[in-house]
Amino acid sequence: MTLKTEKLFSDAYGIDRAIALLKSGQLVAIPTETVYGLAALALDANAAAEIFAAKERPAFDPLIVHVPRAWHSCAELIEADIFSPNKIGPHQQLVIDSLIRAFWPGPLTIVAPKSDKIPDIVTSGLGTVGVRMPDHPVAQVVLQRLGQPLAAPSANRFGRISPTTADHVIAELDGRIPAVLDGGRCDVGVESTIVAVESNGSLTVLRPGGVSVEALRAALAYELKSNADAIQIQTIAAGHVNSIQAPGMLENHYAPRKPMLLIAAGTSARLSKMDAANIEGIKNALRRFCPDALKVGYLVTSGSPAVHKRGLESALGLPVHVESLSPKGDMIEAARNLFAAMRKLDDEETLSCIIAEPCPNETGLAFAINDRLKRAATPSS
Ligand code: TXA
Ligand code: MG
Repeated sequence: MTLKTEKLFSDAYGIDRAIALLKSGQLVAIPTETVYGLAALALDANAAAEIFAAKERPAFDPLIVHVPRAWHSCAELIEADIFSPNKIGPHQQLVIDSLIRAFWPGPLTIVAPKSDKIPDIVTSGLGTVGVRMPDHPVAQVVLQRLGQPLAAPSANRFGRISPTTADHVIAELDGRIPAVLDGGRCDVGVESTIVAVESNGSLTVLRPGGVSVEALRAALAYELKSNADAIQIQTIAAGHVNSIQAPGMLENHYAPRKPMLLIAAGTSARLSKMDAANIEGIKNALRRFCPDALKVGYLVTSGSPAVHKRGLESALGLPVHVESLSPKGDMIEAARNLFAAMRKLDDEETLSCIIAEPCPNETGLAFAINDRLKRAATPSS
């Protein structure tokens, strides 16, 4: 059956319609501050199954459960049948409450033991659930009026670039879902940071995202009245994924259809100082990666697109389309623009491939940006 996907404005009619569809067990893509989510009632196993079908998502990849503002503590989440009433220890609870106070509503997903009421399909059979309180007014109105949690992965086909506008959702899922609620462009632009809170209260960052590791450490030190260096935070970087701890964190993800090559940070800026042999090495790498390129897309995280373009075209001897995520080098702005820029380079028909430079350091949101670029560029095996 082909559906026509309705694009709903976030007005009274649109929100009523979205709620009616969700209540009847159907899917609606909703705006969040990170990326658009493909939502369904989290406690309805059949509705959740529709998400996997629409996205062509493998069943081993668990969904994040989104909750209304009112559930602003571990106790409220236990009361609401989200977290387990008897599998969360006191220290774990203290840490969860600290994270909630510091970052909710906002781009942080907390993984902890789940209540039996959450269907197994939502968590891919795991004993834990990832929970997040989105900070987008439209998502919150929908959640508050439903009074129920919503399961929502990013609203893209499995493995593809996450959507940060309603039009991106249509480009990914038109005809596969009944509706998308348009809430404008997502402000954060990369997905939530996912942290597992272990029984001893230590944290494992399963996916870097909208909350930086530095912010996690500082907030926990403040909340727990501890020295920042004493806060235990483990991170799982791209390339070191353990499928038991971080199911679904596949290496080849966020991928454009075009081949994407990751090149050393700062390459474009260094070209003018490179000798001929170095430049020839870069040209050869490009020829191997994209043999018949007539024009290439080039993604940089900072700097003037015009300046990059001039330098690249004269060195490579071929036309280049440059997307700069933040000309002034602000990584918050760069994160906001990341997926739209990748999508633009992917959609531009004249470009044969995409070359991307990561951020030169991995502090703040640069860690999440580089994680997405690495995963997007990993060739499928
Ligand atoms: O910002 C976001 O997190 C967005 C918006 C829509 O909220 N959602 C999102 O969902 O990025 P998705 O499906 O693209 O990513 C969900 C990932 C899974 O792939 C998995 O790695 C992790 O969250 N996850 C979910 N539940 C988990 C659990 N119980 N244990 C470990 N990882 C879990
Ligand atoms: Mg996703």
